Formats: sequence, structure tokens, C-alpha cells
Amino acid sequence: MNELDQLVSSAQADFDAAPTPAELENAKARFLGKAGRVTELLKALGTLPVEQKKARGAEINQAKARIEAGLQACREALAQAELEAQLRAEALDVTLPGRLRGTGGMHPVSRTMERIEAIFASMGFDVAEGPEIETDWMSFTALNNPENHPARSMQDTFYVDMKDAQGRWLNLRPHTSPMQVRYARMHAARHAGKHPMPEIRVIAPGRVFRVDSDATHSPMFHQIEGLWLGANIAFKDLKVVFASLVREFFETDDFDVRFRPSFFPFTEPSAEIDIRFGSGPLAGRWLEVAGSGQVHPNVVRNFGLDPEQQIGFAFGIGADRFAMLRYGIDDLRLMFDGDLRFLKQFN
Ligand code: PHE
Repeated sequence: MNELDQLVSSAQADFDAAPTPAELENAKARFLGKAGRVTELLKALGTLPVEQKKARGAEINQAKARIEAGLQACREALAQAELEAQLRAEALDVTLPGRLRGTGGMHPVSRTMERIEAIFASMGFDVAEGPEIETDWMSFTALNNPENHPARSMQDTFYVDMKDAQGRWLNLRPHTSPMQVRYARMHAARHAGKHPMPEIRVIAPGRVFRVDSDATHSPMFHQIEGLWLGANIAFKDLKVVFASLVREFFETDDFDVRFRPSFFPFTEPSAEIDIRFGSGPLAGRWLEVAGSGQVHPNVVRNFGLDPEQQIGFAFGIGADRFAMLRYGIDDLRLMFDGDLRFLKQFN
């Protein structure tokens, strides 16, 4: 190998070894730059005798052309490698299976509440919602349940570390009954001075909270409050309303409804409502599903209404209880564990 061939191959070796375009350009400078080795050789031509110059010049230029070709090839290879690396970094694997979008579904309690709301709506009841954090007056006092009265301990209430304008601790409502007060007061204000005052017929579904936890009690559960108040609304109307609800909700005529005497400060007389199916898996057992009673005159007064003019009943339905009976669920806690294996069965 002559001296020029060696020069070409050492240039090629340097070019091949250059890992980046910048280093390739440095290698180029060593051979083709102003002080590069090829340039030196060309400069040295001047010292040669005239008759050698032409042949030597041609040889050097040939070597230079080969070096430049090698350089160009390396530049392209590096650019190609760079492009490929970039494409690889941004690659989308179109063969990956897609992520399924979950379709979601309705919770059995939500289904139950919607069903009950629709049934009451068909009987002319308005549907109202209200706050879960309540004042002491709304949850208790307005409902004829004064401070220090033993009936307050019927519910072991959660309190919120915050006081209302009267300086009383706020509570997580232990029942939906405050909605009787909120709705009736709104109604009384809206229809003030009207004779006769239009009837109140409303249900109020929602979450309620009590310090309680076992197979049949959860610290958070659901009630549907009901209130029907007018000039002449009586217990017999409650019985009709309730029997209609049970008939439509459970899609059967084969049941009995029983009013069992009880006590609530806000109703007098008061009753627990029990139902008993004549057939099916629960046949023959009395099941408690609601509290109820004729609205107490003190409560009607707190509604801003005249208990001599307005009479009627209220009830509080255990919505989770209805869901459990309908779907045959025996542990209330299953409803609130959020276990998809359980919840998927209802969708
Ligand atoms: N608020 C009562 C409870 O939670 C239920 C009830 C509502 C009773 C309305 C009578 C009238 O136990």
C-alpha cells in the first residue's frame, strides 16, 4: 500500500470511528482542513520539479476525492442513525391491544332510589334534596327534639368541628327529616297568605350518618323522607301511599303492611312500618322498612304553618333496606365496600 492509500484508509478509519457529526467534522479537519494532511501534501507540490507535479497532483486529488466520498458516506450514515434513533424513541406500538373504556353502571342503592323516586313522582310527590351537613335546629330542635331531651340519643350523631350562627355544633344529618322543615318552610314562604294553602307532597332522598356499624348498620346510609301535609290528610292516606309503593317497587300484590306503635319526637302518633311478603324467599317474616307518623303540631308550627289548618303525615324509608330486600342482599356492608365483583352483578 503506498503512502496515499494509507492516508485514505487512516482517514476512513477516523471517520468510521466518529460517533457523532461533530466528531466527524473534527476528523475531516485533520485531513481536509487548512492545516490538514491532504492540504499539506498539496502545498508540498510547489517544491516538486515541473515534470513530476502533474502526475503527483493528480494522485493527491484522487486520494482527496476518495477521502471526501468516505466522509460523505459517513455523514449520511450518522444522519440516518440519528433519524432512526428519533423514530424509535417516538415509536407507537400499533400492535398493542387497546385499553377498554369501562362502561360503568349504577349502584344498587342508586337504582333503588331512582325507582322509589319515580314511583312517588307518579303519585304527585315533588322530589327535593338538601344539605348533608345540618344545623342543630334543623336536625333536632325544629323537629320537636329539644336540647337535653333524651330522644336525642335515639341517634348517635356525628358532629362537625364547626359552629352555626347560634353557636351550636353542626352535624352530619342523622336522618332526612330536616328536609321536612326546609321544604315546608320554603313552601310556607312561597304561598304565604294563600287560602287555601296548597298541599305539601314531597319526598327527600339522600345520605344520612350515624355512629353505628355492623351487618345491618353502616355509618353512612340512605333514607327517603316523605311529607304529605294538607287540610285533611290522614293515616289512611299514608297506608294507601305506602302500599302503592310496596306494590310497585316489589312488583307484587302478595304482601301485608303493618303499623307498629313507636315513638318519634316529631310525630304523634308514631309508627314503624313493617311489610310481610306472602311468597318468595322472605315470605312470612315481618320486615321493618320505615318510620312514620302524624306530624306533631309543634313541628307544623316550626314549618311556619298553622297546625289547626295543616295536618298530615311524614315517613322515613330505609332505602338500603329496600335495595337489600329487592336484590336478596344480606349484609349491608357489601353495598359500601366498592367491590366490583359484587357491584357488577346489578348491571
Ligand atoms: N327520622 C326517623 C328516623 O330516622 C324516621 C321518621 C321520619 C319517622 C318521618 C317519622 C316520620 O328514624
